[in-house]
Amino acid sequence: MTTLLYNIGHLYQTYEKAPLLVRGKEMSKVPFIQNAYLSINNGLIEDFGSMTELKSFPFDQSVDLSHKSILPAWCDSHTHLVYAKDRADEFVDRIQGLTYQEIAAKGGGILNSAKTLRETSEEALFESAKLRLNKLIEMGTGAIEIKSGYGLDLDSEIKMLQVIQRLKSHFSLPIKATFLAAHAVPNEFSNTEDYVTHIVEVMLPVVAEKGLADYIDVFCEKGYFDVNQMERILKAGAQYGLKPKVHVNQFSSIGGIKAAVRQNAVSVDHLEVLTPDDLDQLKQSNTIPVALPACSFFLGIPYTPGRLIIDNDLPLALASDFNPGSAPSGNLNLVLSLACIKMKLTPEEAINALTINGALAMGLEHTHGTITRGKKANLIVTECIDSLADLAYNFGEVKIADVYINGISTNNSKA
Ligand code: NIG
Ligand code: FE
Repeated sequence: MTTLLYNIGHLYQTYEKAPLLVRGKEMSKVPFIQNAYLSINNGLIEDFGSMTELKSFPFDQSVDLSHKSILPAWCDSHTHLVYAKDRADEFVDRIQGLTYQEIAAKGGGILNSAKTLRETSEEALFESAKLRLNKLIEMGTGAIEIKSGYGLDLDSEIKMLQVIQRLKSHFSLPIKATFLAAHAVPNEFSNTEDYVTHIVEVMLPVVAEKGLADYIDVFCEKGYFDVNQMERILKAGAQYGLKPKVHVNQFSSIGGIKAAVRQNAVSVDHLEVLTPDDLDQLKQSNTIPVALPACSFFLGIPYTPGRLIIDNDLPLALASDFNPGSAPSGNLNLVLSLACIKMKLTPEEAINALTINGALAMGLEHTHGTITRGKKANLIVTECIDSLADLAYNFGEVKIADVYINGISTNNSKA
């Protein structure tokens, strides 16, 4: 099946040979072709260029984009998309003055989600996650990572990971699964060390044997898992070939970045608190920092110092952190606006963080994140825009006319 998209206003993120990531000053550039065409063959980008260079050759279908623009679909490298129930009551508690930690201490938070998830069937979890993911695709998400971490016992973690596996089969966008049993200590364990031992000796071997996870994660934070416990879990994961992507420095800097770098983490996520030493650790590593501004917005906590990170010649990725407790939205168009408005990224920097760098943060750098021949045709067709800034400027709006996954228009597939 061949498709020609023509009369494209601007075709953004075009690379003959795509970099694996962009860092520092490179992040301010988004290469583009004005008045362009793009051809797709069997779900892959076959060719692209200026309309003046388009040779006529047969296509199964062609679409006149009437000067709408195209960019690679968003790559969301950090979500908790599978959950049983919203936590709107906690939202109201927080409005009335309680902090995230105070809510967790009175039985809310992650343990609240674990309680409801354990009571919910795999089928019901799959159906609700499917609805959420369909909405995200409409809003431009073309690749996604999804974590476990609301089960916190063997059966329930497996149930979550099986839901993610079913999503992988049901949807044609790439989905990466991350094993996050170390998200909080469940009530049946009075001692964190004992739960860590249970994760390492009981849960991890089953998850690995069933091939249910691509990555391993730990919430390294005061009151959750300390640095030694995180390293123990990451080392155990490495023995099964699971690379780390970890939650660190959300509320405090306790050495999680240094340890994650030591364990060759693909990404360190959150970083709302970042010390000069943490920054130095990142400079000496191949680990990509991931900022989650929707979480900062929702919880009213500091934003990750993305400007500082980029000005230190580091790469940065952005993700949604979609979850019922700290970021109940997977709308990456809003994340784009927040990154510009609150973190002082330019629209180009934020778009690089959501495409090329987001792809790298989940191991998809060779197939997604840029408009490059041979990469997957996962594309956002924008409404008619004058510049990339338009996508961030009307915050809360989704200026997307269509999304292509593997070269198929999701508008058409809905019809
Ligand atoms: O990334 N911080 C840890 N985990 C999630 C929140 C999970 C929850 O509150 O349910 C996060 O923000
Ligand atoms: Fe998270």
